[in-house]
Amino acid sequence: MEFLELEAVTKEFPTREGPARIMDRVSFSIREGEFMAVLGPSGCGKSTLLQMAAGLLPPTSGEVRIGGRRVHGPPPEAVYVFQQYTRSLLPWRSVRDNVAFAVEHRLGRRRARDAAEGQLAAVGLAGFGDHFPWQLSGGMQQRVAIARALTAEPQILLMDEPFSAVDALTRLDLQALILDIWTQRKLTVMLVTHDVEEAIYLADRIAMLTRRPTTLAEMVEVGLPRPRDPITTREAPRFLELRHKLLDTLLARHAV
Ligand SMILES: Nc1ncnc2c1ncn2[C@@H]1O[C@H](COP(=O)(O)OP(=O)(O)O)[C@@H](O)[C@H]1O
Ligand SMILES: [Mg+2]
Repeated sequence: MEFLELEAVTKEFPTREGPARIMDRVSFSIREGEFMAVLGPSGCGKSTLLQMAAGLLPPTSGEVRIGGRRVHGPPPEAVYVFQQYTRSLLPWRSVRDNVAFAVEHRLGRRRARDAAEGQLAAVGLAGFGDHFPWQLSGGMQQRVAIARALTAEPQILLMDEPFSAVDALTRLDLQALILDIWTQRKLTVMLVTHDVEEAIYLADRIAMLTRRPTTLAEMVEVGLPRPRDPITTREAPRFLELRHKLLDTLLARHAV
């Protein structure tokens, strides 16, 4: 069943020379439980597209639907994980209270804190509740941001280059974490990235975008078996074939 649908999504931003169309009639759907990566060059509008999917920004024309209902504001089924997690964590709140923050108004302080402890354990941060965000490494801070997203018990996780600010090894850890969470909780995921290997490694399908004005270049079925392995999956002939094809498209589009 289709869970998130983008239909002819078009976005214009006002400029001094008039409206600039950055995205032109992008249409695709994400099935319930599917892991979709959205891949495209820097500046093509990936963050903008994700914000429209999250109901944070309206499309100029076209439509976004989640669970069959048109998105006008942030839908309760979805949660959005920012690229710049350091900006999304509150430095004066403990890690536990940062995570609890998302559900405090709904559950009350005590139950929110209990929920936070559970989510912290799920992302491998049991025992870190009393720390402050600035006492943790970048990768751990991103885990806190993920734990906070999960307290809302979303059905769909919308992630904007969530691993781009951490070192390569930490990135592998976080990719494994996201795959675990996705598998265990049967979530739907839309993950935006400019990293070809990350898209192939994680996703069921890849929506490949062109440069601006951005359109959907192609929809690629990854077709690699699961569970995936950080080493052997990256050596599989299918992985290398896709890597070649996608890099070729991405680089060729840079040249024009
Ligand atoms: N609020 C805005 N006003 C004007 N232009 C914007 C705004 N937000 C983004 N843009 C422009 O839209 C384009 C796409 O941006 P973005 O979605 O951040 O791309 P990406 O995430 O793929 O790097 C960029 O050229 C950016 O300058
Ligand atoms: Mg971006």
